[in-house]
Amino acid sequence: MARIIVVSAAEFGRAATEMIIYHFLTHRRPVVCWPSGSTPREVYAVLIEETRRGTISFVNVESFALDEWGEVSDVRLSCAYDLRSRVFDRVGVPERQVHVWPPRATPEDCIAYESLIADCGGLTLGVLGIGLNGHVGLNEPGSDVDSRTRIVTLTPLTQRLARKNYGFPHPPAYGVTVGLATLMESRELLLLAQGSTKAPIIRRLLQEAPSEALPASLLLDHPHLTIMIDSDAAQGILRIPIWHQSSQTQEGNVT
Ligand code: GLP
Repeated sequence: MARIIVVSAAEFGRAATEMIIYHFLTHRRPVVCWPSGSTPREVYAVLIEETRRGTISFVNVESFALDEWGEVSDVRLSCAYDLRSRVFDRVGVPERQVHVWPPRATPEDCIAYESLIADCGGLTLGVLGIGLNGHVGLNEPGSDVDSRTRIVTLTPLTQRLARKNYGFPHPPAYGVTVGLATLMESRELLLLAQGSTKAPIIRRLLQEAPSEALPASLLLDHPHLTIMIDSDAAQGILRIPIWHQSSQTQEGNVT
């Protein structure tokens, strides 16, 4: 059953971080997968601040990158670099507890990654962004709810956005991602969306029946899913017919 929290754009980073802090404080050994991209940047800045302040510590945290591009001509374009430079290297997380993919990951690397998550006892928290096509991680439309960590072919939209938003001279054709089944097994999920460009996909997420066409919707059945969005990404959600919201509630999808 998803809990939807709408906060102002100014409060978004702090509010999302408070949820992560609470998770850290209530789990002896958090096992977390982290997204790259623009959405969590403020969250990572607040996490650094709170770590320096001593509110939380990463000493007991196992950190997994949620996804990775398949072909990166410059290492600075990789999700691993993004996560290391924006958070991992700045919060004192022990290197043995940082898990990212090697460049040009193979199917064997994906199997090893999945096993590593299992060896850690499974994820306790999956922090997620959402793509304009509804992908989570790089679980693109068409991804199966039973999917595991694997190599995925990127859609033309994701490739275009990789060029536009992250500066890829040549968009990658494929990526690797933690699978939907692995995310579903996480004890908690926190899906973040910020900004008006995400408003249409958030409306679709809350309006449409869950399907593989919108991978994030397959997570709506998770027992502890929080969707935190800022007011810009929430534009129009109050116009979603109330009958639809309540019918989803009866199905146990949305509160
Ligand atoms: C990208 C990333 C995901 C990210 C999502 C949203 O393709 N691979 O990990 O969560 O799409 O990105 P952004 O936050 O930049 O909008």
